[in-house]
Amino acid sequence: MSDNNSRRRFLLSTAGLAATSLVAGVTGCASDEQASVAQRTSTPAAGSGDTATTAITLAARRRLGSLEVSSIGLGCQTMPGNLYGPVSSRENMITIIRTAVEQGVTLFDTAEVYGPLESERILGEALQPVRDQVVIASKFGFDVNQQTGERGGLNSRPDHIRQAVDGMLQRLRTDHIDLLYQHRVDPQVPIEDVAGTVKELITAGKVRHWGLSEPGPQTIRRAHAVQPLTAIQNEYNLLWRGPEDQVLPLCEELGIGFVCWAPLSYGFTTGTINPYTRFTQGDFRAMVPRHSRENMTANMAVVQLLQDWAVRKGATPGQLSLAWLQAQKPWIVPIPSATRTSHLLENIGTEEVTFTSDELQRFTTALNAVRVRGERLPAPVLAQTGVEAPRS
Ligand SMILES: NC(=O)c1ccc[n+]([C@@H]2O[C@H](COP(=O)([O-])OP(=O)(O)OC[C@H]3O[C@@H](n4cnc5c(N)ncnc54)[C@H](OP(=O)(O)O)[C@@H]3O)[C@@H](O)[C@H]2O)c1
Repeated sequence: MSDNNSRRRFLLSTAGLAATSLVAGVTGCASDEQASVAQRTSTPAAGSGDTATTAITLAARRRLGSLEVSSIGLGCQTMPGNLYGPVSSRENMITIIRTAVEQGVTLFDTAEVYGPLESERILGEALQPVRDQVVIASKFGFDVNQQTGERGGLNSRPDHIRQAVDGMLQRLRTDHIDLLYQHRVDPQVPIEDVAGTVKELITAGKVRHWGLSEPGPQTIRRAHAVQPLTAIQNEYNLLWRGPEDQVLPLCEELGIGFVCWAPLSYGFTTGTINPYTRFTQGDFRAMVPRHSRENMTANMAVVQLLQDWAVRKGATPGQLSLAWLQAQKPWIVPIPSATRTSHLLENIGTEEVTFTSDELQRFTTALNAVRVRGERLPAPVLAQTGVEAPRS
């Protein structure tokens, strides 16, 4: 196994010597990513009271279809503070997003249903001064009242998509959405109608690229035939590898990028939640069957594996989790969420962590030997995944 510790020690000793870049330049994608050099910066971490002496500037870029993005994005679902417990403050969330931009992150993920509406508002305010330097991804698909935020069930009817996009543009303080996803397949609406509506929005200049989240495989093919897809966004992490069966091979065949949501399995693979964690009232993670004490106890074998390798590789378990996902395909981009600057910077630091092919094989073999326990989502939420859209 290669030893990254000496390199990291060297980088730490030279921290502060390299210039800080506000937003890292594009260095190419996929194939030359291994050769990208992490710039060092002595920029102190801003916001949320965290301090970091050094931080990596994320220079690596990947391609989702024809869309170029940083090799790690930032998920902004938790920033309204009503999903995984309260956050420090709205102001700090804006600071964290801006810190991400300064450190080279270009992909920011939100949805109208996050908050609802509030995640988009936070992101819009944070990114307004740097709008032309970033890629904003958002999602429609639920029956969200654009004024009150009141949320109903699924709704991908064409008139509602148009209304939702107009609301997004206002909240995001922009005239276009770079990557617009259907959040979940609507079993009442043919995907051709959805794709056709998005195609019109692209022609109108309101949307640049589009994608689907947690669709059935035939729906991917049908959607792609009407308006080429840029990305599929599904859960993919060390505890949930379902996309490997059908979706990743399909993305490869059709030239579609893949974005992993919950790439840290809700924080579990960082080792910071365990069978003894007490979630606050209303924390979504408490409703995930995988997080029962019994299931978490069994699944700690994955964390143990990561911790063993983390020591040897001079990385954190979270960084190894993200690096393993990136190592699967050059067009895979994880979007961990972070409401603490220290977490954001640690995740960006994944740029320094790579697996040799031998390491990748040995790590994956050990991972394959762990039997992961518990469903990844509560039953009603799980029922909305992998759905095939009706035909007209
Ligand atoms: N398409 C979909 O249906 C869908 C579904 C869910 C999520 N998403 C997207 O995916 C993004 C990420 O998913 P997620 O937030 O559910 O899961 P995640 O990114 O796997 O985990 C987030 C959790 O991990 C913690 N964390 C992050 N970095 C850490 C680090 N270095 N060390 C320790 N803890 C760390 C965060 O804590 P702090 O907040 O304290 O920093 C947070 O509690 C969302 O923001 C959203 O944009 C999409």
